[in-house]
Amino acid sequence: MKIVVIGGTGLIGSKLVVKLREHGHEAVAASPKSGVNSITGEGLAEALKGAAAVVDVTNSPSWEDAAVMKFFETSTRNLLAYGAAAGVKHHVALSVVGTDHLLASGFFRAKMAQENLIKDSSVPYTIIRATQFFEFVKGLADISMEGGKVHLPPALFQPMAADDVASAVARVAVGQPLNGTVEIGGPEQFRIDELVRQHLAQLNDPREVTTDPHARYSGAEISERTLLPGEDARLGETRFETWFAQSAGQHPQIAKKAAGVIN
Ligand SMILES: NC(=O)c1ccc[n+]([C@@H]2O[C@H](COP(=O)([O-])OP(=O)(O)OC[C@H]3O[C@@H](n4cnc5c(N)ncnc54)[C@H](OP(=O)(O)O)[C@@H]3O)[C@@H](O)[C@H]2O)c1
Repeated sequence: MKIVVIGGTGLIGSKLVVKLREHGHEAVAASPKSGVNSITGEGLAEALKGAAAVVDVTNSPSWEDAAVMKFFETSTRNLLAYGAAAGVKHHVALSVVGTDHLLASGFFRAKMAQENLIKDSSVPYTIIRATQFFEFVKGLADISMEGGKVHLPPALFQPMAADDVASAVARVAVGQPLNGTVEIGGPEQFRIDELVRQHLAQLNDPREVTTDPHARYSGAEISERTLLPGEDARLGETRFETWFAQSAGQHPQIAKKAAGVIN
């Protein structure tokens, strides 16, 4: 099967392309770096020629409210229009668990707009809503800074390894379109404030995490269970500690500590 991965150089996209190729598919890693741009349309018609499925794992370079909305609306409209013209039989997109309850956030309003454009188009589709990636746990601290401290609510979440996300997306991409949404998540629940605090300590990152029930998640106030997937979610196997042990060498702070450069 020819499967075009838009955003094929990103965290999920690059893993997805490898997995699809391992299973004998012709996976095209499409992104501006390879001359395919879902905003300008450059290279799209050529890349989609003969494709059975398109997988959209792009992300916006800017998360500012207006910019992120413009990105997902323009990119999704182009991918659906060029996909329909090329006879693509399955449009797969990666979204986020709880998106419809996070609309106070500009980022999630943009993801909702992306989902709605897909649902309203004539191209058969599957939307995959994933929980937060383990690789994004440090990023959660970065987007939750207030007055020099990380402010996070004690809400539950069920994060997952990017590798498990890519495996789940690969399975969907080679299957039949569901014209619906599936949820994927990790094997364990954590409280966001606690896992971020633990992870910053693992990374020797000195930032303090303040537990604040009213702290916003990406600009939206959340309740205890907003970020949890439903009972039917497909769950990845990788546990956070296993992922961290396997990926520790990739964290610059830990590599420096192991080499005795820092204490
Ligand atoms: N972070 C999380 O915890 C989480 C959880 C659930 C779902 N998601 C969703 O997962 C998706 C993928 O996330 P990710 O972390 O893998 O993203 P990422 O690593 O930031 O990669 C983004 C990709 O988008 C490409 N891209 C940017 N502008 C483009 C354009 N104009 N045309 C074509 N491609 C373009 C980039 O290409 P270049 O490399 O060429 O710039 C890159 O390949 C996102 O939609 C996100 O909302 C994220």
